[in-house]
Amino acid sequence: MKAQNFYFAFPIAGVLSYLVIHTFYYLDINKRTYNHVPGECSYTYSLQSGASDFEIYNGTLFCSTGLDLNNASNSSGALFAWNLAEREAYQLELVSKKPPKNFNPHGISIYGRSLMAVNIRDEQFDSIEIFRLPTNYPYRRIKHIKTVENPLMTGLRDVVAVSENQFYATNRHYFRGKTMKKFEFLTNLRLGSVIFYDGHKIHLVLTRIATPTGIVFDHKKKHLYVASYTDEKILIYDANGTELTKINEIHLGTAPYFLIYEQSTLTFYVAAHPVKMRYFFYENSPDQFMCPTQVLQIKKKFKKDKWSFTQLFSNDGATISGGTIAWKTPQQKLLIGNIHTGILSCDLTAV
Ligand SMILES: *[C@@H]1O[C@H](CO)[C@@H](O)[C@H](O)[C@H]1NC(C)=O
Ligand SMILES: *[C@@H]1O[C@H](CO)[C@@H](O)[C@H](O)[C@H]1NC(C)=O
Ligand SMILES: *[C@@H]1O[C@H](CO)[C@@H](O)[C@H](O)[C@H]1NC(C)=O
Ligand SMILES: *[C@@H]1O[C@H](CO)[C@@H](O)[C@H](O)[C@H]1NC(C)=O
Repeated sequence: MKAQNFYFAFPIAGVLSYLVIHTFYYLDINKRTYNHVPGECSYTYSLQSGASDFEIYNGTLFCSTGLDLNNASNSSGALFAWNLAEREAYQLELVSKKPPKNFNPHGISIYGRSLMAVNIRDEQFDSIEIFRLPTNYPYRRIKHIKTVENPLMTGLRDVVAVSENQFYATNRHYFRGKTMKKFEFLTNLRLGSVIFYDGHKIHLVLTRIATPTGIVFDHKKKHLYVASYTDEKILIYDANGTELTKINEIHLGTAPYFLIYEQSTLTFYVAAHPVKMRYFFYENSPDQFMCPTQVLQIKKKFKKDKWSFTQLFSNDGATISGGTIAWKTPQQKLLIGNIHTGILSCDLTAV
């Protein structure tokens, strides 16, 4: 009898300890973050409700602020503009006949005069809001053109405009319930997806991607780059509307959030989290936890299928917690945005 119990218990204990150890490494609990700050850093205090994504347009940074990932009705969502030659950012006035309800913006993208924003909602599904940028500088008002919503928008994170009326977007989650979302993340179920909007209809173009977050597009080469958070990779596709062919991937060893791709220099800026577990806690209770941030610059080596990596910034969470987006300005400043505290601006004197 006893022996039987032993034989029965042994494999279960084995499986359990395997799962515990696997989860330990998967969530990076064994990793430490060392501080590497490239120069003097300071916050832009006019962005006190965060800047979870930003994009440059004619020397002005457009950012999404006020995001609440856990409770959309508690969002102070707005779009801000910051002319980098000036000190302060300011809120853009949204002009609309039918303003989006509970605007809770996360990923944004600009193409031509369109600005698209992911709207994370409490409703049945999320949406993408499309705005028209103003023609007159300085930019003060932004016109809401339309809301694109669809049952396939189960857990949006980021959007990339491929024309003024077409986009790809990432669904980090398949499930909408809070508990199932956590389960999906912790077990890396790989149920994330990418959708394509052709101007009329939404198409599901990629499935079974591990928690896709950032997405960017190379308009010349027609390459789509998708950041897979829990697989710690950037996936590369040849993209023509609904037809996507995977051509390569970049292994990072850190979990990428949003990306910026500079077409002219073939360079990515990646805001990443070296310890996924810390981000998991931070996302759910930002007041109680800190999350380390790392910023990578990745350049394509010419004529080779190789990439060169430079770490521009690394912090344990005390200076900036859970950075979601980063970019190096032509004036050699590193800007890092996050959901709750705004944009940290660092001099790049000691990279
Ligand atoms: C671009 O910005 C400059 C000022 O920095 C402004 O004079 C110009 O009108 C802007 N162009 C457009 C297309 O908004
Ligand atoms: C609402 O948001 C604020 C920060 O913007 C946060 O401190 C607060 O805990 C949130 N409240 C709820 C009920 O989610
Ligand atoms: C979400 O935020 C709203 C507004 O602050 C608040 O009334 C509500 O109780 C919050 N819901 C939860 C579940 O915290
Ligand atoms: C893109 O797809 C369209 C329609 O499927 C096709 O007609 C076109 O040739 C494709 N373009 C390229 C560059 O593959």
